[in-house]
Amino acid sequence: MTSPKKLFIKTYGCQMNVYDSERMSEALGGQGYVETKTAEDADMILLNTCHIREKAAEKVYSELGRMRPLKEANPDLKIGVAGCVAQAEGGEIMRRQPLVDLVVGPQSYHRLPEMEAKLQQGQKALDTEFPEEDKFERLKARPKAKRGPTAFLTVQEGCDKFCAFCVVPYTRGAEVSRPATRILEEARDLVERGVREITLLGQNVNAYHGTGPDGSEYTLAKLIWDLDKVDGLERIRFTTSHPNDMTDALIEAHGTCAKLMPYLHLPVQSGSDHILKRMNRSHTAESYLRVIERIRAARPDIVMSGDFIVGFPEETEADFQATLDLVEEVKYGYAYSFKYSTRPGTPASERAQVDPAEADDRLRRLQALITRQQREIQDAMVGRTVNVLFEKPGRFEGQMVGKSEYLHAVHVPDSGCVAGDIRPVRIVSTGTNSLGGEMLG
Ligand code: 5AD
Ligand code: SF4
Repeated sequence: MTSPKKLFIKTYGCQMNVYDSERMSEALGGQGYVETKTAEDADMILLNTCHIREKAAEKVYSELGRMRPLKEANPDLKIGVAGCVAQAEGGEIMRRQPLVDLVVGPQSYHRLPEMEAKLQQGQKALDTEFPEEDKFERLKARPKAKRGPTAFLTVQEGCDKFCAFCVVPYTRGAEVSRPATRILEEARDLVERGVREITLLGQNVNAYHGTGPDGSEYTLAKLIWDLDKVDGLERIRFTTSHPNDMTDALIEAHGTCAKLMPYLHLPVQSGSDHILKRMNRSHTAESYLRVIERIRAARPDIVMSGDFIVGFPEETEADFQATLDLVEEVKYGYAYSFKYSTRPGTPASERAQVDPAEADDRLRRLQALITRQQREIQDAMVGRTVNVLFEKPGRFEGQMVGKSEYLHAVHVPDSGCVAGDIRPVRIVSTGTNSLGGEMLG
């Protein structure tokens, strides 16, 4: 018997890429690959790239450049580029960096086995098409490997919103939703393998509109209610949402579906209506705040999270102040803030840029405010009882760590728990990024 070939995958960017990397690893498992944690002993290296951040393609090219010695040491080593940079750059990657053997876009991962076979014949393989078929159906997992207590499940990909700063509609393509039956099958399979919490993924997850089990058009709310009936599945989350797609039914589910966790990531990007318009966000600060008001009416203890961009072209100090005002009003438990950076090909890249020093200063001020809010919400957890889904042992002997329903990391000494247990825990302390608790009862 030949020994298995080793696959090293380096994943950049969002949770969708984490999910895709798992599927790619499973697909190549059928070709005799097992994953390794080090690039040095790999037979194939795959970079699963992200295009959201600045100079993403350039960073990939320099990473590839650093792989030359590995290829020199092992001429049989195959190097592949997957993800959104692969989609955006296509064949250009192989022209600029001839040591690359394989370029595969996010919609073509199910074709990896055939592409790998081509590599074995000494050819190169390139596929960045947007085929019609459901790649996840073709990427079905191999026989039941045990999984950890939490998992991602992609239900929707792509985006039709075309925010003026964003590359996603170009790299991931138009919105496509998977059929509900396939998602439910995959969820049941995950539960059989030990998963207790599923996070539904999509670039625009709440715009989900797949075919329902009865052939009708489904919504994310309906999908959540079907998942609610899956025995053994205890927690449901979803990300990332657009404010305009928060339907009444989805908001109501936050109040009535016990498995749906009280945490919502709802990016707003800016608090200024002028900037929101220029971003092509198709909502206002006010309409966003009203959505949150309705969510909080349904689920008063929900923890909100958001994304912000500062220094978007033409942003004035007054516009930025409107963002600070909105943050003050919402009070975020988590938030991700970025300095605007241009993405070639997007509408905003053509516009007058804000002075970088000014943008840095705004980012610093926004992050200071957000950090303060995060701390306040964490500190307010002290004395409260939360339910923790334990995931793994902590740094100290006997300690276990997990997540509360609010997504706070919680560590507990001598918990007596194993990964997968959900137990009530009293919060007794707060740190920078986690809470300390003790078991109840
Ligand atoms: N510049 C800065 N931040 C961006 N994001 C997306 N595109 C850009 C860009 N060009 C941020 C948005 C989005 C998050 C995933 O990344 O806030 O919600
Ligand atoms: Fe990008 Fe999200 Fe806007 Fe779609 S809704 S274009 S993914 S920022």
